[in-house]
Amino acid sequence: MAKNKVEFVCRECGYTSLKWTGCCPECGNWNTFDEEVTDKFNKAKSSANFVQPKILKEIDFDSELRYDTGIDELNVLFGGGIVKGSISLIGGDPGIGKSTLLLQICSNLANDNKILYVSGEESSKQLKLRANRLQIDSENLFILPESDMDSVVSSIKNIKPDIVMIDSIQTMNLSEISSASGSVTQVRECTYVLQKIAKERDISIILVGHVNKEGNIAGPKILEHIVDVVLYFEGESKFSFRILRVVKNRFGSTNEIAVFEMLKQGLKSVNNPSAVLLNERPNGVSGSCVCSIMEGTRPILAEVQSLVTKSGFGMPRRMCKGFDYNRMSLIIAVLEKRAGYFFGTLDCYINVVGGIKLDDPAADLAVALSLISSLRDKPLDDGLIAFGEIGLAGEIRSVVGVEKIVVEAKKLGFNKIIVPSNCMKNISKVPESVKIIAVDNIKSVISMVFNV
Ligand SMILES: Nc1ncnc2c1ncn2[C@@H]1O[C@H](COP(=O)(O)OP(=O)(O)OP(=O)(O)O)[C@@H](O)[C@H]1O
Ligand SMILES: [Mg+2]
Ligand SMILES: [Zn+2]
Repeated sequence: MAKNKVEFVCRECGYTSLKWTGCCPECGNWNTFDEEVTDKFNKAKSSANFVQPKILKEIDFDSELRYDTGIDELNVLFGGGIVKGSISLIGGDPGIGKSTLLLQICSNLANDNKILYVSGEESSKQLKLRANRLQIDSENLFILPESDMDSVVSSIKNIKPDIVMIDSIQTMNLSEISSASGSVTQVRECTYVLQKIAKERDISIILVGHVNKEGNIAGPKILEHIVDVVLYFEGESKFSFRILRVVKNRFGSTNEIAVFEMLKQGLKSVNNPSAVLLNERPNGVSGSCVCSIMEGTRPILAEVQSLVTKSGFGMPRRMCKGFDYNRMSLIIAVLEKRAGYFFGTLDCYINVVGGIKLDDPAADLAVALSLISSLRDKPLDDGLIAFGEIGLAGEIRSVVGVEKIVVEAKKLGFNKIIVPSNCMKNISKVPESVKIIAVDNIKSVISMVFNV
């Protein structure tokens, strides 16, 4: 018998070490090492049988390759529907709506396909309760409250479903592995088992993954490498908005998002997110500026709010919600050096309304303008929107998707659009009653907007 080897595995990144260490040399996290017993030798040996490679030309290919989830926005994220035989991962914070989405997908797919829903977290009754709320009832939907992988595998062999949902991968457990459910080894090995079944039997599998405090899927990054598609839920569970983002897709673009609203009947796609995000915008208040960023192939307009106040302590406070902290520091530095506005003794707070995250540099200009607006206590024009990346020299750099942004802004009633001058060539037609203002450096934008 091969001797079992004891090693220590980092829960966050999957780094292995023969000795226990407090701090992971790979990802720098503390106290993340778990002891795990592996029998690597056996595994390597068992997988060493020969398989004849096939000629590409001779591989069978059937045209009915994708499942329609019944939710158009979701189909787009999957690149046109869930690919048959693929394995996908949906991650997100606790309570954000992962199980809800899964059950909704089930309801649509169960019309023509057999589905097995494995829940390691909830009992059949709890699932039924949710299904009732979502008004889902189907004869093709099988519920299995189970966390033991062996029984899951035998159920799959028995029921022969087309699609399998695993809620969640962290609760699944392979009995031959001694470490606890949710540990790196368990998560990884369970995923391998499922991946093998998916490819062998042409079953599509969707996994739910929990995220850790950094917002990554708990367990190693390796999970993201094994699966074909990775979708992340973003948003605050206190807000009703949920953004589903593609992080990886072997069968489609990773440039897409879908916006949903959480209602009693489940997640409903929001067709015009910008209108909803700007719904409660106060008029004539300083520190508010609307920006536009491209989320994948579509523009999203959102309100950035800043509050700049005198600091009560020696060390000014800086806080960001929905915007990158370091990016804010950079913008403040540029405003000090290139435009002559000083924030040294001032607290700065930035908030992006609606729980959405702006991680596109196109939001820079709106952040800068909202900061100056609050600093000077001068409201911006209500019909104004601004976008553009700010460079270290104070220059306003071009961004993508300008034409679409202009159309969207006009649709939502904005009539003054500040755009980087280098983008002007990309605007073929300026809509009626809209004034486009081309700008190329931060100092001139500020003097133009605030008449100084
Ligand atoms: N009656 C209801 N009306 C509106 N929203 C509800 C209702 N019941 C539940 N919800 C929403 O559903 C969310 C929980 O959804 P769900 O159980 O799908 O999340 P999850 O991501 O699977 O959570 P977990 O990580 O705990 O498994 C709640 O946060 C709440 O927003
Ligand atoms: Mg759940
Ligand atoms: Zn690590």
